[in-house]
Amino acid sequence: SERYAVVGNPIKHSLSPQIHSAFAAQTGEDIVYSKQLVPLDGFADFARSFFAEGGRGLNVTVPFKLEAFELADTLTDRAASARAVNTLLLDEKGEILGDNTDGAGLVFDICNNLGWQIRGKKILLLGAGGAARGALLPLLAAQPTHLHIANRTAEKAVQLAAEFSQLGELSGGGLEALRGCYDLIINASSASLDKVLPPLPEGCVADQGKAYDMMYGADLTPFSHWAQAQGADVADGQGMLVEQAAESFFLWRGVRPKTTPVRAKLRQDLN
Ligand code: ATR
Repeated sequence: SERYAVVGNPIKHSLSPQIHSAFAAQTGEDIVYSKQLVPLDGFADFARSFFAEGGRGLNVTVPFKLEAFELADTLTDRAASARAVNTLLLDEKGEILGDNTDGAGLVFDICNNLGWQIRGKKILLLGAGGAARGALLPLLAAQPTHLHIANRTAEKAVQLAAEFSQLGELSGGGLEALRGCYDLIINASSASLDKVLPPLPEGCVADQGKAYDMMYGADLTPFSHWAQAQGADVADGQGMLVEQAAESFFLWRGVRPKTTPVRAKLRQDLN
């Protein structure tokens, strides 16, 4: 069987081995997928040895996504625009290819699993860090009429919007300056990790509005709780987690696993 792994620090709580093993069992692909704790200064050495010793693919998580981006010989467009890599593989030439499947996983979950529309909608993206940047190219490719980035530090949102301005109708600003209402609000800030709600004005959720928190857990995040109280349909990042994994699996194996049973099992385990 061929070897794959997820690399991070910490890594203990990673659900990737469970998800990829389920994909392998379902598709009959003969792989082993392990988790690897790598010291903070040891990512590049680990990754090079892994591939030199016959390993086929890596998933990369916190805090190594930027180092994986720097290590890759070639980047997909979505990894280049994310400036972060969560998936590595050896290509036909024996070079290390870096991809980022996070944003595609998010958009797939929103459009295909939840059945929420992005095309023709007004989107609000909260946060301007790595998670927000990683989502931008796939989100804009889904053709919203407008995408506004709002961030605690306004300047970072303005810059990020300027950087992607060729790819769609977008704008950026601070949270306090938020105006208007949005069909879909995506929380890509790390506020939920701190169990806090970014300061959001009343009335920014459109009629029939939706809210997606990239974070997930057994309980609703403060953001999802707030959005529900505003009348929005809400979802958390569990679907995104499984879909980004499916996208990596497809890149490595050329086979697209069915995610529905895997998402159902994960939801059951987490609750
Ligand atoms: P990630 O990779 O998860 O995106 P990051 O790059 O450190 O992590 O970015 C964290 C994002 O969450 C930033 O946009 C940050 O806002 P600032 O740019 O102002 O720092 C945002 N964030 C973190 N804690 C927050 C909070 N309590 N309220 C609102 N935004 C917060």
